[in-house]
Amino acid sequence: MSTGKNILNALRQQLNLGDYRKKHWEGTFEEYLDIVREHPEVTRTAYQRLYDMILSHGTEEVYDQKEKTTRYNFFNQFAAQQGDAIYGLDRQLHNLVNTFKSAAKGYGTEKRVLLLHGPVGSSKSTIARLLKKGLEQASRSDEGMLFSYSWKATHSSLSPSGRVQSDGSEMLWQKCPMHEDPLHLVPFDLRLQLLEKLNEGRKPNDVQAVVQGDMCPFCRQMYNERLAKFDGDWNRMLEEVKVYRLILSEQDRIGIGTFQPKDEKNQDSTELTGDINYRKIAEYGSDSDPRAFNFDGELNIANRGLVEFIEVLKLDVAFLYDLLGASQEHKIKPKKFAQTDIDEVILGHTNEPEYRRLQNNEFMEALRDRTVKIDIPYVTRLKDEIKIYEKDFNPERVKGKHIAPHTIEIAAMWAVLTRLTPPKHANLTLLQKLKLYNGKTLPGFTEDNVVELKREALAEGMTGISPRYIQDKISNALVAHPEEGCVNPFMVLHELEAGLRHHSLITNQDQLQQYKELLSVVREEYEDIVKNEVQRAIAADEDALMRLCSNYIDNVKAYTQREKVRNRYTGNFEEPDERLMRSVEEKIDIPEGRKDDFRREIMNYIGALAIDGKKFDYKTNERLQKALELKLFEDQKDTIKLTTLVSSVVDKATQEKIDVVKSRLIRNYGYCEVCSTDVLSFVASIFARGHAKK
Ligand SMILES: Nc1ncnc2c1ncn2[C@@H]1O[C@H](COP(=O)(O)OP(=O)(O)OP(=O)(O)O)[C@@H](O)[C@H]1O
Ligand SMILES: [Mg+2]
Repeated sequence: MSTGKNILNALRQQLNLGDYRKKHWEGTFEEYLDIVREHPEVTRTAYQRLYDMILSHGTEEVYDQKEKTTRYNFFNQFAAQQGDAIYGLDRQLHNLVNTFKSAAKGYGTEKRVLLLHGPVGSSKSTIARLLKKGLEQASRSDEGMLFSYSWKATHSSLSPSGRVQSDGSEMLWQKCPMHEDPLHLVPFDLRLQLLEKLNEGRKPNDVQAVVQGDMCPFCRQMYNERLAKFDGDWNRMLEEVKVYRLILSEQDRIGIGTFQPKDEKNQDSTELTGDINYRKIAEYGSDSDPRAFNFDGELNIANRGLVEFIEVLKLDVAFLYDLLGASQEHKIKPKKFAQTDIDEVILGHTNEPEYRRLQNNEFMEALRDRTVKIDIPYVTRLKDEIKIYEKDFNPERVKGKHIAPHTIEIAAMWAVLTRLTPPKHANLTLLQKLKLYNGKTLPGFTEDNVVELKREALAEGMTGISPRYIQDKISNALVAHPEEGCVNPFMVLHELEAGLRHHSLITNQDQLQQYKELLSVVREEYEDIVKNEVQRAIAADEDALMRLCSNYIDNVKAYTQREKVRNRYTGNFEEPDERLMRSVEEKIDIPEGRKDDFRREIMNYIGALAIDGKKFDYKTNERLQKALELKLFEDQKDTIKLTTLVSSVVDKATQEKIDVVKSRLIRNYGYCEVCSTDVLSFVASIFARGHAKK
């Protein structure tokens, strides 16, 4: 067994001391110039840093309904490391990153407030949180390092972080409150020359060292005092400066800030730009002495990184003015001081109602003109919506309770349906539209039609049910029946419906009615899904399936090669059995007009396998497997009387068959003892009602 000592020793080996020293590097200004000479990227602006950080995680080209977009691993791989993820918003995230890109290149967007705009619960905060985490982490990496500086001070009241020198006197270092780049210490008339030297030998396309902006009021005061002390000798003044590696941290309020609106009485601009330190006014004799001022507003401390404005449009107009200056001029105005340069990404988010208010308010025109709006809608593809819930509700996180198959799918399906715009096509239902978006092919609809459908519904995803509502209702369903070992779609559907009456965001009866109707749509769809599944489970007799499969393939092969098939019994050569082939293909909705394609596809697939020396197995082709199972079910549906399940007396032979089907449901479809029994009696009752559609 491990003792405390062992544990500590093991942990100690994990800790990388070299790494610690690297991250806590301190040095002289001269040494910093050496670093800049070698790594000019340490002087990047906050936007460049952010953009480079996102790219550093890698990208991937993806095609989404014929449109090419770039997918950034940052929003999935890095996010996953943080226990987070953004699904289904590739295009929107691509827009967002493009805005960062143009800001990084200085094309103008760096002078705007970036506004994530979307309905409640569309992952705006999640995106902001990820960006902050990403910046923090990047600042700890070699590629993302950045630096700031502190002043040597003698006055003991200046800093709580004083150190005792060997001679017993206190040695104090006071950090620049806005974590500025040390190059700010270079006077303007020397900068050009300095940059020339720092960038000597670099090609125009190489990363260049840059200096932008001037010192904050506090550093200005320190600077002037020291310059006076050394009689204008800048080099000697620099001896009182120490450069250190800056690690961004939201918790420590370094380079990452968050501002959340509160009620109007309780907030004023000091929260953004800092406040007078009344305790120190007496000491320095004036409230305009920068030493008697705390430059610790959200915009101050977020310098070099990112500041997030939660619900930015709920802010008072007075605040918005600060924000305008901050974005447009990259300057803020702390009380009693001159304008101060900042270098930070300003990211706000807002909901639809607030944004509409902005649109209608003339006074806000200045703001409107300076914002870049990026829509973050709800997900409209079922697959992606399912992933949102599977992240929280999976066997690892939900212990001691089984989640029946399709439970999450059905809830997600309803959520997506509430967000879709009814299609203009007369013969396309909302559910079919959902399936098209989800990548399913429907007879008569091409990918172009899907693109068109999207184009005619541009505001799609900006309204409807939020993922948060679904998450809450799934949680409710999980705890509502403590005696049950398994939560099924009916329990979740029940919670979803019951909650609607109290839903604060549903404002009118029509909408409520519509949402309820959509619940019946998904209920019906669920019936179809499980009916299908149970039928397949009944038919999942492997030997029979294999025989059917080889029979089908023999016929398809003969058909595509215009040959005849040898009859197994008579040995005669006959025409391919069209009826057999069609009865299989119809099970998965292959229309007459597409059958040739489908058959050729299968033969190509088998051919490709043969080249690799592999044998075809129907289980590797999901669609074919489904078709075969359904066909087999049809052929033998009389051998098992499902309806007997609902009666209380079941003979032994039937019970044995039922047990086989149940075990298949458990083995192949993810059911448990409880939900497989439930689903069998449910399907039996559908058949008993005579509702069998096909
Ligand atoms: N596209 C998505 N990918 C992954 N998760 C999502 C997505 N959309 C919403 N979520 C989930 O929904 C929940 C709400 O997200 P978040 O708090 O980021 O939304 P928001 O847009 O900031 O909402 P609000 O406007 O109410 O502040 C989170 O659990 C989030 O993980
Ligand atoms: Mg939010």
